[in-house]
Amino acid sequence: MQRSFIAGIGHYVPEKVVTNDDLSKVMETSDEWIKERTGIATRRYGEKHKETTTTMGARAAEKAIAAAGIDKNEIDFIIFATLSPDYYFPGCGVLLQRELGITNTECGALDIRNQCSGFVYGLSVADQFIRSGMYKNILLVGAEMHSMGLDYSTRGRNVTVIFGDGAGAVVLQATEEEGRGVLGSCLHSDGTYAEKLSFINPGAHGGYHQEHEDEQHDYGYADAEYGEMFINEHMITNGHIFPYMDGPFVFKMAVKKFPEVIMEVLKKTGQSKEDIDMFVPHQANLRISQFVQRQLGLRDDQVWNNIQKYGNTTAASVPIALSEAVEAGAVKKGDLVCLAAFGSGFTWASALLRW
Ligand code: UT7
Repeated sequence: MQRSFIAGIGHYVPEKVVTNDDLSKVMETSDEWIKERTGIATRRYGEKHKETTTTMGARAAEKAIAAAGIDKNEIDFIIFATLSPDYYFPGCGVLLQRELGITNTECGALDIRNQCSGFVYGLSVADQFIRSGMYKNILLVGAEMHSMGLDYSTRGRNVTVIFGDGAGAVVLQATEEEGRGVLGSCLHSDGTYAEKLSFINPGAHGGYHQEHEDEQHDYGYADAEYGEMFINEHMITNGHIFPYMDGPFVFKMAVKKFPEVIMEVLKKTGQSKEDIDMFVPHQANLRISQFVQRQLGLRDDQVWNNIQKYGNTTAASVPIALSEAVEAGAVKKGDLVCLAAFGSGFTWASALLRW
C-alpha cells in the first residue's frame, strides 16, 4: 500500500534573540516567573520590514526541498499552516509559491487555520492526497511571525511572553516501502470554547458572538457598523486587537487531550507507548510536555523539547522540533516518531510515523 513519508525537512528561526529580561523592560514580568511557569528562556523575533511568516516559511521550505533532492517546480501541492498570515487574504500558500519562485501553476496551494495543531492537521491532509495517488510531492509548511501581533503592555503579558517566531517545513512523497512513513493520524475539534484562546479582531463578527459568551471576560465584541467590520476605535482602545488566552483553562484541557490523542493514534496503528522512539510535542509549555512525558513513561532523551530557546511557535513548533531532532541524529531510519499538538479551537491532533 502506498503511504507518504518525509523525504526532506528543514527549519528556520530568525537571528534576533529576545530574552525574558528584554521583555521585563517593557512589561511587568520577570525571568523567574517565565522560566518557572513555562520553561522559556528566550525566543526569536523576525526582522521587521524584512521578514514575514511567508519569508521565514520559504527559508525553511528551501531546506526541505534541498534535503528531498527535488526541484521546486516538481512540487505539486503546497499546504501552509499559520495563525499569523502576512495578509488577511490571500493566504500564505500563494505568497510562499511566489517567494520560492515556483512558476508551475499546476501546483495547488491550501492554507490551514488550525493554530497549534495546524502542522499535524496538514500532515494528515498531505498523507491522504499522497495515499490516494493525487499528488507526488507535497510541501507542508508551518510558520509564524507572532512578534508583529502581540500586546507588549502588561495587559498582554500572559500571552506575549510565550510566543516566538520561526518556521518548519517538510516535503512529503509516496513510498511503497513496507511499514515506512505516516502510519496514521487522529484529528479532533471542539468549538465550545473557541474564544478561550482566540484573536477575534479583525473579523466580520459584528458583535454577534457576545450573545453566546459567558460574561466573565470581555473578549472584545464591540458592535461594528457596516464598513468597520475589521477594526474600530473601541477595539483598539481596549486592546481587543491582540490574542487572548485563558491560560489555566487551556492548560487543563491540554494535559487531558494530549495523552488521549496519543493513545488513540497508538491504538489505531497497532502500536504501544513502549514502541515510541521519539515524541515531538507541540511546544506549548514545558510543564505540559513534561506532564505528557510522565504519562507515556518516556525518558528525557525520547522527548524533543526546544521551547526553552524558541518559545511557542504555534504551527511551526512541531516541524522545527522534528527538524532539530533529525539534524541532531536523534531520529534515525526505522524509528517510531509520535507527533501531537493541542491548541486554539480547540483543535488537537496526533500522528505516528515510521522514519
Ligand atoms: O499553544 C497553545 C496552547 N497553549 C497552552 O497550552 C498554554 C496553556 N497555559 C499556560 O501555559 C499557562 O496558563 C500560562 C503560562 C499562560 C500562565 O501560567 P499560569 O501558571 O496558568 O498563570 P495564571 O494565568 O494563572 O496567572 C497567575 C498570576 C496572575 O496574577 P494574580 O492574578 O495571581 O495576581 C497573572 O496576572 O501570574 C500573573 N501573570 C504574570 N506574572 C508575571 C500572568 N502572566 C505573567 C507574566 N509575568 N508574564
